[in-house]
Amino acid sequence: MPEEDHSQASKDYRSEIPQRSERFFLKGSNELDWGMKNRLASIFDPRSGRTVMLAFDHGYFQGPTTGLERIDLDIVPLARWADTLMCTRGILRSTIPPTFRGGVVLRASGGPSILSDDLSNEAIALSMEEAVRLNAAAVAVQVFIGGKNERQTVRNMTRLVDAGNRHGIATLAVTAVGRELTRDARYMRLATRICAELGATYVKTYFVDEGFDTVTAACPVPIVIAGGKKLPEKEALEVAWRAVQQGASGVDMGRNIFQSRDPQAMIQAVRAVVHDGETPEHAFALFEELANRTASPATAPAGA
Ligand code: R5P
Repeated sequence: MPEEDHSQASKDYRSEIPQRSERFFLKGSNELDWGMKNRLASIFDPRSGRTVMLAFDHGYFQGPTTGLERIDLDIVPLARWADTLMCTRGILRSTIPPTFRGGVVLRASGGPSILSDDLSNEAIALSMEEAVRLNAAAVAVQVFIGGKNERQTVRNMTRLVDAGNRHGIATLAVTAVGRELTRDARYMRLATRICAELGATYVKTYFVDEGFDTVTAACPVPIVIAGGKKLPEKEALEVAWRAVQQGASGVDMGRNIFQSRDPQAMIQAVRAVVHDGETPEHAFALFEELANRTASPATAPAGA
């Protein structure tokens, strides 16, 4: 039991100073509850307001994707440069060290595999109780606006939003574009806005060459871009740079990091673009420098 406090005279209430009340740094997120904001601050770095999410959940429908055959050997060493890891619960439990201190975004939808003729036929694949148990900061769900299973996947999202809001866990809506749909700003504006209107805490979408600034402007919550298929490193850095310059709050990048010829150098170069505002030219020079160091490590001293 604490001892009685007799030091009244020395107390300092500074009653003339109004209590500080800071606005939360993330777009559209000021009215969220403390737990949700705290989790979002483990995904987005409050210093830059942005995130580098390392995505390696691809196995949930395509098994051992190139570059993800051995997550223990190839992905775990990259985690120190990731603000957030995006993965399935199976990989998190089996392979990711629980000492990881950044945010974890868990894949929460699934069902069809690459052998199926309809990838959009997804169901919710994770309970919120399990997300809480695994200390997830957010859950991720695929939403196929305009697709065959539009209604079902929107419903998956809204059910996760309701459950997530009860527990203070964010919902990342991933706008998935079927082959039959055009990936342009008009479509991305529609898809991201619908997800935000129906409650997604933040939205992942693809960068588009024309008018991406209108996509971020029309979406009232943060947008992160998916990396997409593997590009030459300089082009991938350019896409990341153009996206953040046009209002994206970061990247959720997978193949362009883990399929790079030097994934450790690439994730550091992506960080330079996203957090430090480096140009793609500078970031690519950093990539080359780091990759060259790995290729020709300093000669070990004699007798070592
Ligand atoms: C896709 O199946 C996953 O949701 C990935 O997390 C997402 O597509 C990002 O990975 P990538 O940068 O390889 O497109």
